[in-house]
Amino acid sequence: MKAHDPLARLEQMEAKAALAGGQARIDKQHEAGKLTARERISALLDEGSFVELDKFVTHRCADFGMQDQKILGDGVVTGHGTVDGRPVCVFAQDFTVFGGSLSGAYAQKICKVMDLATKIGCPVIGLNDSGGARIQEGVESLAGYADIFLRNVLSSGVVPQLSAIMGPCAGGAVYSPAITDFILMVDRTSYMFITGPEVIKTVTHEEVTKEQLGGAESHASKSGVSHFTEPDELSCIERLRDLLSFMPGNNSEDPPIRPTQDPPDRADEALDTVVPLDSKKPYEIKKIIHAVVDDKKFVEVHKDYAKNIVVGFARFDGRPVGIVANQPAHPFGGALDIDASIKAARFVRFCDCFNIPIVTFVDVPGFLPGTNQEYGGIIKHGAKLLYAFAEATVPKVTVITRKAYGGAYDVMSSKHIRADVNVAYPAAEIAVMGPEGAVNIVFRSELEKIKDETARAEARVKFTDEYRERFANPYKAAALGYIDEIIRPRDTRWTIIRSLRTLKNKRQTNLPRKHGNIPL
Ligand code: HXC
Repeated sequence: MKAHDPLARLEQMEAKAALAGGQARIDKQHEAGKLTARERISALLDEGSFVELDKFVTHRCADFGMQDQKILGDGVVTGHGTVDGRPVCVFAQDFTVFGGSLSGAYAQKICKVMDLATKIGCPVIGLNDSGGARIQEGVESLAGYADIFLRNVLSSGVVPQLSAIMGPCAGGAVYSPAITDFILMVDRTSYMFITGPEVIKTVTHEEVTKEQLGGAESHASKSGVSHFTEPDELSCIERLRDLLSFMPGNNSEDPPIRPTQDPPDRADEALDTVVPLDSKKPYEIKKIIHAVVDDKKFVEVHKDYAKNIVVGFARFDGRPVGIVANQPAHPFGGALDIDASIKAARFVRFCDCFNIPIVTFVDVPGFLPGTNQEYGGIIKHGAKLLYAFAEATVPKVTVITRKAYGGAYDVMSSKHIRADVNVAYPAAEIAVMGPEGAVNIVFRSELEKIKDETARAEARVKFTDEYRERFANPYKAAALGYIDEIIRPRDTRWTIIRSLRTLKNKRQTNLPRKHGNIPL
C-alpha cells in the first residue's frame, strides 16, 4: 500500500468490518447452527440490493478496557434493500460482537434505519440475536433500548414491523419485538424471556430449562408471544419474505396484487356438504378456507395458539386479505375464549392498519362459559375483538357457515358493526342461543307442568323443533336485512371475490380523535 492510498484504506476498513467479531466467533456461530448477521441479510434481501449504513460506527465506552476493543459496526448490521423488488429496512444483530449486546451507538444505528423506514414508508425487519444490554455501558444501553421502543410504538400502524428471533432475546430487550406486528422464532436456537431460569429458580424455586421457558414452542403454543415457528433460519427468512408479500410498504398504500390463474368464479360443489347438517358435528373450517382462496394458499398466523379461532393471510383475485374463522373442529366447538379473542383482535387491527380487507367465516356457538373465563376477564378480552371489528374500516365480508349465536354473533363482524357484505349458508343458525338452551328457558314453566316424563320429553322435542324451525335458520336475519344474501356454499369464492371487487374503493373513516380506548 502507498503511504497514502485512500482506496486501499477503504478496502481494508471494509474487510475488517465484514469480519466483525473475528473468524473464530463466526465459526462458533456456525457450529451453533446459526448464520451470521450478514449471511442472514443476504438471504433475506434480493441479490445485490443491500445498502449497508454505518459500517464504521464504533461504541463510545471507555470503561472496563472497552476503549481497546472497538469493532467496526459495533454488533449490528443495518441498512436497506429490496424483497421482491420492494424496499425494506433491516437490522441484524451480530452475536459475534460482544454477544450482539446493545450499546448506545448500536441503538443509534437501529434508530437511524427505523427513522428511514418511516420517512420512505417501508417495512422494518429486525433479525434478533443478542445477549441484551451491553453490560459495560450501563444506563446508556438502557437509554438505547428505550429509543428503539419509542420508535416501535410511533411507527406501529405506519409501517409493518417484523421480528425474527434467531438466538437469545432476553430481559427488557424482548419489548421491541413485542411491539412489532409479527414475531417469528427459529426452533431450538432461539429463546425469549423477561427473566431467565437462574433468576426464576432463586425467586420462585421453579426449575425450568431455557427451552421450556422461552423456546419457540412455548411462545407459539402457550404464551402466544410468537406467531410463527420455523425449523431453521433459512425457512424463517423465507417466511419473512412471504409475509411481506401480503403487506403494503406503509399505511397509505394498498397491499401488492399477485396475479393468479385461479378462476374467480370457480365453484366447488364439495363445499355444499362440508358443513354437517347435524349442528353438533364438528368439521374443519380450514377445508373451506383452502377451497375458496386463490391457489388454495393460506398462510396461517398463530397456528399453534388459541386453535379455536383461525387467522391468517390469503388472496382473492390476486389481492391479499386477512381471514378470521371460528374453528368448529376444536374441542370448544368454535366458541370464543380469552385467548382466541385477543389473537383475532390483534390480527384484525393489523389488517385494518394496513388496508388489508377482512374475510370472516363464522361458526360460533357463543363465548366459552366458566369461572376460568369470567375470572380471567373474558368480558374485557372479548370486548377487544368486538372493538377491533367495529373500528376497522377496511372492506369486511362475512360468511356465516353454521352457528352465529348470542353476543358472539354481534362480535364476529356482523352487519351491525359495519361489515359491508354479510352472507350465510342455507343451514346457518342465527339466534340468541341454540334450540336446547332456548327451550329450557322459554318453555320452562310449560315443561314443568307436564308430570309424565315421557310426555315431557316429547314436548321438549316438539318445542325444540318449533324453535329450530322458527329461529335456528338464516331467514329471520335475512328478513331484517342483517344478512344480504343466502348463498350456496359452492359459490363462496365467487361471492367473496365479487364483494371485494365492489368494495375495492371503499371509503370510510372514523371520527378524528387522539386515539380510542380499547379495553386492554
Ligand atoms: C456484554 C456480552 C453480553 C452482554 C454476552 N456478551 N452478553 N457482552 N454485554 N450483555 C459477550 C460475552 O462476554 C462473550 O464475549 C460473547 O458475548 C459471547 O457470549 P457467551 O457467553 O460466550 O455466549 P453463550 O455461551 O452463547 O451465551 C450467550 C448468553 C450469555 C446466554 C447471551 O452470554 C449471557 O447470559 N449473557 C448475558 C446476558 C445478560 O444478562 N444480559 C443483560 C440482560 S438485561 P467473548 O469476548 O468471550 O466472546 C438486559 C436489559 C435490557 O438486557 C433492558 C432493556 C430495557
